[in-house]
Amino acid sequence: LKGDPRIIASMLPPALPPVNQRRRWLHRVAVSAASALAAPAVLAQPARGLTLRFSHVVADETPKGLAVLRFQSLVAQRSGGRIQVLTYPDGQLYGDHDEMAALQLGAVEMLAPSLSKFGRIGFPEFELFDLPFLFGNLADVRRITQGPLGQRLLQGLGRHGLSGLGYLDNGFKQMSANRPLLAPSDFAGLRMRVQASRVIAAQMRALGAQPVSLPFSETRRALASGVVHGTENPVSNFWTQRMHEVQSDLSLTEHGYLGYAVVVNRRFWLSLQPADRELLGQALREALRYGDQIADAQNTLALAALRRAGSTRIHTLSALQRTRLREAVEPVHEALERRIGLGWMQAMREALKPATTG
Ligand code: SIN
Repeated sequence: LKGDPRIIASMLPPALPPVNQRRRWLHRVAVSAASALAAPAVLAQPARGLTLRFSHVVADETPKGLAVLRFQSLVAQRSGGRIQVLTYPDGQLYGDHDEMAALQLGAVEMLAPSLSKFGRIGFPEFELFDLPFLFGNLADVRRITQGPLGQRLLQGLGRHGLSGLGYLDNGFKQMSANRPLLAPSDFAGLRMRVQASRVIAAQMRALGAQPVSLPFSETRRALASGVVHGTENPVSNFWTQRMHEVQSDLSLTEHGYLGYAVVVNRRFWLSLQPADRELLGQALREALRYGDQIADAQNTLALAALRRAGSTRIHTLSALQRTRLREAVEPVHEALERRIGLGWMQAMREALKPATTG
């Protein structure tokens, strides 16, 4: 890890590139023209060549950004440059609200939305990952993502023309605001930015806060302007979005998990030559495992960088404080089990049983 220049680069405050309006506009024009002509889902390809656009909303210097770059380089190496992966981090191409529609239209080939963003597009079962204090550690998460339940969840994406190719960890979320958030009473009256997940919204309400669902790319601005008072995210996202400049306090609550699923347009995926599909699938599996391996380290490095920056007070919760938060949000599990689906809840409990019963 120490030798990887990108990981070292992550310790520096990254420049936040402004959204490339011109590229986005040109791209949209190309998409409309392509849809009007009912063109195939991929860009016009040079002979035997293939170009895939991989769009996501976070910085390159995050577990997801680094895994996507690893995928890009593995594909380039193994295809001898014949298959090219173009990466669009930081919501440069599409944001939370339009990326799925773009994928379904064939305007982009690969995405890695957070698991919390699948409920809104018709897969509420994915919101089980958002249940607060569900997982004790990443090994618990992998009992689901790397087991039969995780595979069933991915297969279900076929209902809306998607293929799910695998999972990737970021890590555990922390709460931030312009005050410490150590007890349920600290949340009273706060507007907290959340992803578009009913489970996360219910969690914030259970704490006495008002959830405000906003795209990731708008979060920092909304915090800076006071539209929202606080938010939750793993430290790597907090740091690389420079949220420390607009939030005075980060409370290490570790109350929930953030992870991703890589998805492609099913029709596009099945239209590929089997050998190319195999090459891409294998490269992606390796890149995702790499991302999982560095996720913890990236969050630890981001926390160290944040401490050095000195602009945000960092609070560690006592066991009792965590227990109090946990008790406050416990009713969310039962209240949201119908939305997630009783069958999925049952399967999730079964999958976690060995971990929880020891
Ligand atoms: C992401 O990590 O992809 C974004 C998470 C968020 O929207 O909070």
